[in-house]
Amino acid sequence: MTTPYKHEPFTDFQREENRRAFEEALNKVEASLGQDYSLVIDGERISTDEKLVSVNPANKEEIIGTVSKANQELAEQAMEAASQAFKSWSKWDPAARAEILFRAAAIVRRRKHEFSALLVKEAGKPWKEADADTAEAIDFMEYYGRKMLELKDGKPVNSREGEINRYIYQSIGVSVVIPPWNFACAIMVGTTVAPLVTGNTVLLKPAEPTPVIAAKFVEVLEEAGLPKGVVNFVPGDPVEIGEYLVDHPKTALITFTGSRAVGTRIYQRAAVVHEGQTHLKRVIAEMGGKDTVVVDKEADLDLAAESILVSAFGFSGQKCSAGSRAVIHEDVYDAVLEKTVQLAKERTVGDPRSHDTYMGPVINQKAYDKITRYIEIGKEEGRLVTGGEADDSKGYFIQPTIFADVDPNARIMQEEIFGPVVAFCKAKDFEEAIDIANNTEYGLTGAVISKNSENIERAKRDFQVGNLYFNRNCTGAIVGYHPFGGFKMSGTDSKAGGPDYLILYMQPKTISQML
Ligand code: NAD
Ligand code: ALA
Repeated sequence: MTTPYKHEPFTDFQREENRRAFEEALNKVEASLGQDYSLVIDGERISTDEKLVSVNPANKEEIIGTVSKANQELAEQAMEAASQAFKSWSKWDPAARAEILFRAAAIVRRRKHEFSALLVKEAGKPWKEADADTAEAIDFMEYYGRKMLELKDGKPVNSREGEINRYIYQSIGVSVVIPPWNFACAIMVGTTVAPLVTGNTVLLKPAEPTPVIAAKFVEVLEEAGLPKGVVNFVPGDPVEIGEYLVDHPKTALITFTGSRAVGTRIYQRAAVVHEGQTHLKRVIAEMGGKDTVVVDKEADLDLAAESILVSAFGFSGQKCSAGSRAVIHEDVYDAVLEKTVQLAKERTVGDPRSHDTYMGPVINQKAYDKITRYIEIGKEEGRLVTGGEADDSKGYFIQPTIFADVDPNARIMQEEIFGPVVAFCKAKDFEEAIDIANNTEYGLTGAVISKNSENIERAKRDFQVGNLYFNRNCTGAIVGYHPFGGFKMSGTDSKAGGPDYLILYMQPKTISQML
């Protein structure tokens, strides 16, 4: 009997012993930087000459590790291994598969600070954000393991006299897992273990900036007893390897989390039926966001400012859920803007190695260049009230940046910047605020700060987002509590960490037997 699911608690870094333990983990991770990691195909480690080089975004000189890159020949071998392994893995008792997830969760929990410390170094996450990322990874394993136990015998259906009917779920086949770098542990783990526990086999192609944490997780799965060939680790060039696997006729399912541009490309490619293919591919695509915090005139204005701040600048705004737009009722606009600017000025930006850092770097030069370009665009489209400075001499640092008086249709109100930049926009009433909030092609998260129950009800009905929050920030969904996924161009609204998620990885079968 498993205990009921409860999310992994966050570490209280106010406590000295926790800070000390985290420092020790950072020291341990730093002592092992620069190692080389291999591909894993059918349980064999394969090293290649071409490498992904993972660097610390806070210190470009520091190499976190190098990871072998697969070529198409190796990707083909991995596909073959996954196809073979599927034959036995899909027949495993679902409870035994769940058991492997529980064991892997226990291993990561035991080494929690070590995983989080690696996220500090590889993804540039401040301690708190890194700790939450690892906690979410543990949650996915604990939650999906339990959900599989609930689904293992299928669901009840009616039977008439003289027949027995059953409705069961079966695995599908080989899953190609393509995660992003921003929840380098949580999303990589969640999208790997969901196909696993449902009896599918996996080809994991990690995001280029964060392959080391993925290599470490593959080691955890091996330690937890996962048979060889069930997960194959194939880092590589996204186009060469990613598209090869997406196009492959033996690919049954693709689980992608990333940008709108890549997600739509994968969706389109996966629709093409290739020679030898005997099924339609299933695609789970979770994509970008342009998320809004709406502030009503009847609202706690301090809470509004804090919610905008956390939504916009947590992990330097590099969350699909980041609140990069603040739409404020005109009666309270100046007050909320002033309070948010004040809070932003108090926050420290620096190397996340230090416990005091609120905001670390952005992930790499490409992101830095993109965000600083948007800051220049913002200067044309609005009034820069704080931030705007950036420095890439050592790492990729950008100050929390706020633009005021931005038109709802401006580019910085419409396009995903994925950095610490928020645009403020005035609305004449609540209805207009919700219209502006909905005026993007995305529909991932949103928050409403209001004390007006009628407006709260209106927002529940009219605000077109997959995750809607009231009187809080719009980031930080917790597995099993806030199932996560978005509408419109934010993706297929598959709710990661939700009760329906695993069904996406299985095919339901109806069996009707006459007596
Ligand atoms: P990205 O689209 O650049 O890359 C995501 C993954 O796709 C990576 O593993 C990458 O290697 C791979 N990839 C890139 N090109 C590919 C191709 N042609 N074929 C196959 N695979 C390819 O995104 P990113 O920069 O890693 O992540 C940031 C984006 O992810 C943002 O847009 C963010 O909003 C989104 N995101 C969405 C969610 C969500 O749940 N909706 C969660 C996290 C991040
Ligand atoms: N699940 C993450 C959040 O809610 C993306 O912020």
